[in-house]
Amino acid sequence: MTLQKARLERHAQALAKANAAIAAIRDEAAGEASRHKYHFMPPARWLNDPNGLIQFKGEYHLFYQYNPYGNRWGAMHWGHAKSKDLVHWEHLPIALAPSEPYDLDERGGCFSGSAVDDNGVLTLLYTGTVIRDGQVIQTQCLATSTDGIHFEKYEGNPVIALPPEEGSADFRDPKVWKHEDTWYMVVGSCKEGRGKALLYRSPDLRKWEYVSVLAESDGSLGTMWECPDFFPLAGRHVLLFSPMGMENTTTVYLVGDMDYDSGKFTWDVQGEIDFGFDYYAPQSLLDDTGRRLIIAWLNSWDWMPWFKDFAPPVQKYWCGSMSIPRTVELDEDGKLKFLPVAEITSLREEGQVSGVQRIGKDMEIVLTEPVNEAWEMIAEFDLENCDAEEFGFKLRVSEDRTQETVLSYFPATGILKFDRSRSDGWSEGVCTCKLEAFHNKLKLHIFMDTSVVEIYGNEGRTVMTHNIFPHPDSMSTLLFSRGGSVKLTSLKSWKLRPVW
Ligand code: FRU
Repeated sequence: MTLQKARLERHAQALAKANAAIAAIRDEAAGEASRHKYHFMPPARWLNDPNGLIQFKGEYHLFYQYNPYGNRWGAMHWGHAKSKDLVHWEHLPIALAPSEPYDLDERGGCFSGSAVDDNGVLTLLYTGTVIRDGQVIQTQCLATSTDGIHFEKYEGNPVIALPPEEGSADFRDPKVWKHEDTWYMVVGSCKEGRGKALLYRSPDLRKWEYVSVLAESDGSLGTMWECPDFFPLAGRHVLLFSPMGMENTTTVYLVGDMDYDSGKFTWDVQGEIDFGFDYYAPQSLLDDTGRRLIIAWLNSWDWMPWFKDFAPPVQKYWCGSMSIPRTVELDEDGKLKFLPVAEITSLREEGQVSGVQRIGKDMEIVLTEPVNEAWEMIAEFDLENCDAEEFGFKLRVSEDRTQETVLSYFPATGILKFDRSRSDGWSEGVCTCKLEAFHNKLKLHIFMDTSVVEIYGNEGRTVMTHNIFPHPDSMSTLLFSRGGSVKLTSLKSWKLRPVW
């Protein structure tokens, strides 16, 4: 048997074992009430970052960091699913399993990476991670598929065996794209406490040459940059990354200009992709409608100050899900805005609309809808003549009022606040961020799904995503105003049809 044949067989065996482990619990897990109704989840078990997002032969492919053997992080595989519309997903067999000296390790595996279409060959670039003699060894590796389902690891792996002088042993999450006739790759790294994005180039995806530090922290942007992503957008360039060591800031975007001759990206706009507690490692793809889309992992990672354990469903069959895919657009003032893809409206069922209403001082109105666990709501407020100190919604409120999640706006300061300290007896934290009013108007677009709340403020200028785990009977939605009144100009809500 040739060496490559033995390799393929080893990988096939590791995949068969992992697929069998999922098949054994799949049906039981499908009946679990805590599963989301329309957010992406694997059939069962632990999921983290989205990987390899691509439209290949007309279908969207989503790969993801996956532990098929447990509900917590463990040796990383690549789970796989595809979709025609970004809303309904078909689970596919696991694409990558640890099997080789460069990725076979209980504490490592096939770490995050990306996908490209190389003349009809679906090519994945990922980070092989192993620990040898106490040292983490991260290398960049390649795997290919012609049918888009079965992947072979390249015999010449790793394709990048060592980090450059400017990097360190933290050397992971390759994102690859083509510019003119050359492939480029950005890899996350750090040195001396500063996060970095390292740039490589290649003629064929197999031989890589180190180019430069594309961008790095000046000390204020984190100690390590995970999951960098780089793309052109409306005449500018955008760098996304998930920094470690920036406290509550877990996703950053930079907008600027790229100079391919020097390999340097310089930026003049900086922002947060999502201000919520549970949004990490977004990855982008460009689709055939010309949209730049991002999907992210919805879970707080264990550096949150209150972290005690992963969310309650970890005791059941799952942990982790993906955000609704979002479009990325450049706004008039040079900042980015993120909006749910239009396809999600296909899930709207019964709707309810109410017109102009003044919410009086210290009033609380119990809404007749939404009162289920999968819904969408768009509320618009006029801030002209608004003397309320705070107004907004109480979500997933229990009959005895012991459970409630408060989403509110403070017009005097322009602060949007999400308080989950009484959500469920388990979740903690109050999250605040600036939401600039727009022509004296405030628009809140909210998606609720079992234990996820996605909030898009003022057309995606400010987005926050959180997990909460209220009791299934905590179902009421209240509208309130405190200290004064506010005018609600429109309120629309829909039940959303389950996709699973
Ligand atoms: C981000 C991350 C990546 C890494 C992967 C491992 O959540 O830590 O940097 O590749 O998860 O699962």
